[in-house]
Amino acid sequence: MPHPQDQKRYIPALRYHWLTQSYDWALSRAMPEQAFKSALVSQADVRAGQRVLDFGCGTGTLTLMIEASEPGAEIVGVDVDEKALAIARAKSEANRSTIRLYQMSPGALPFSDCSFDRVFSCLVFHHLRRNEKRVALSECRRVLRPGGEMHIADWGRPASFLLRAGFLLTQMLDGFESTTDNARGLLPEFIRQAGFDTVVETEHFATAFGSLRLLRGTKVDAGSL
Ligand SMILES: C[S@@+](CC[C@H](N)C(=O)[O-])C[C@H]1O[C@@H](n2cnc3c(N)ncnc32)[C@H](O)[C@@H]1O
Repeated sequence: MPHPQDQKRYIPALRYHWLTQSYDWALSRAMPEQAFKSALVSQADVRAGQRVLDFGCGTGTLTLMIEASEPGAEIVGVDVDEKALAIARAKSEANRSTIRLYQMSPGALPFSDCSFDRVFSCLVFHHLRRNEKRVALSECRRVLRPGGEMHIADWGRPASFLLRAGFLLTQMLDGFESTTDNARGLLPEFIRQAGFDTVVETEHFATAFGSLRLLRGTKVDAGSL
């Protein structure tokens, strides 16, 4: 059970707890949610028998999409917010899903080293301050097996003046402290600094709220070199 102080130290899905119940409704209307989540699932190419982690799974939409793409994989979602997880659990039950959902404390992941083949994270890193981003990336790399991949969808450097203006709305909602490094385009560099061997931007979505960028980081299997 997370310490009460820890529970305060995170930014909920729509910044305020009372808005969490409207998150799915808001995201599906304000963003091309199906398009970018499908692209993220598709680039990860999850196979039967693989173990997959959805870090910051929130209300579980992506987690369920990963399972639908490969029912033979073992899918685990973690989030700090019990309220978002309750929504994810209800959706999981309604879908007769076998995904497993856990509440975690901000910081360390409650899994052993090298225990996942894929780690997903969608719209989470802009909720984390710089040091939290670094800790989370290094934790995600730690739990990946050699040869494993991390697949991230998050805000990046706005590709135009208009997209920069749109991103101001995101920053006003989620706060400037955690989003400024995203706007500066620093996330790929942070992924490299966390020890990932290759970092590639795979896709860009121009949205009303800024430039959403899809990234892939690979933990090379030294044995295969
Ligand atoms: C914008 S929501 C994204 C939810 C989901 N991944 C999606 O794509 O719809 C951001 C999520 O990150 C979670 N979060 C914030 N800080 C976190 C942390 N330190 N560790 C894990 N999850 C965190 C929030 O609780 C929230 O559910």
